[in-house]
Amino acid sequence: MQLILMGPPAAGKGTHAAELVKKFNIPQISTGDMFRAAVKEGTELGKKAAECMKSGALVPDEVTVGIVKERLAKPDCSNGFILDGFPRTVEQADALEKILSDSGKKLDKVLNIHVPAEDLIERAVGRRICKTCGATYHVKFNPSKKDSVCDNCGGELYQRADDNADTMKNRLSVYEASTRPLIEYYKKLGKYTEIDGRQPIGKVTEDLVKVLSSVKN
Ligand code: AP5
Ligand code: MG
Ligand code: ZN
Repeated sequence: MQLILMGPPAAGKGTHAAELVKKFNIPQISTGDMFRAAVKEGTELGKKAAECMKSGALVPDEVTVGIVKERLAKPDCSNGFILDGFPRTVEQADALEKILSDSGKKLDKVLNIHVPAEDLIERAVGRRICKTCGATYHVKFNPSKKDSVCDNCGGELYQRADDNADTMKNRLSVYEASTRPLIEYYKKLGKYTEIDGRQPIGKVTEDLVKVLSSVKN
């Protein structure tokens, strides 16, 4: 099953991708996570990405398309994948169509988690992530049992550098200008389904699974 999980910053893509990974046993490919890992390792890619991420701008298309192309060629993607946070521009979407058609694959579904702009800053600012296992929490909507400690592994929780109100405003305007046009793009391809992301986390996952149960493997 070849999927794209779309949605504005902090809509819940990562949270729900993690559930879909468990349910369908296909990998999550998050370009944001890949860039953060590269920044942490201090690689050339990390140096290129760090500046853009800090301000909430997009990493250049050729860089982003390059890492996704490489990732999709890995054997664990042979039964499918969940793209989280890619594509974010029409150029990236066109490049993805080409990568897939060159390898005889096609997209099955594009799921958009719809959350209104006014909710997104609160979601981002309250997000906490486990340093060890990457689990995502929210101080109000999905708190860990013990403050700053991961329920899964006991790791320490941290806040992402771009999860502040100022950077978030920029991320949201970048989304409006560059990524929102992809809704029309995928509607035209007949692959688009919208999910109401304002519902509780468990209900959003349930709606996603319901849509995907109609997709043939
Ligand atoms: P990336 O890491 O992808 O950031 P993003 O798109 O802004 O999305 P987030 O990861 O912030 O949010 P999410 O939708 O995953 O939400 P989550 O599940 O965590 O990208 C970061 C940067 O990398 C970009 O700004 C750019 O610079 C660069 N980049 C990445 N991809 C790129 C690309 N393709 N091209 C160019 N540059 C790229 O949830 C958020 C919070 O809400 C959590 O606390 C969660 O617990 C909570 N929550 C989730 N669901 C619910 C719910 N239903 N109700 C209440 N709370 C909820
Ligand atoms: Mg994410
Ligand atoms: Zn953890």
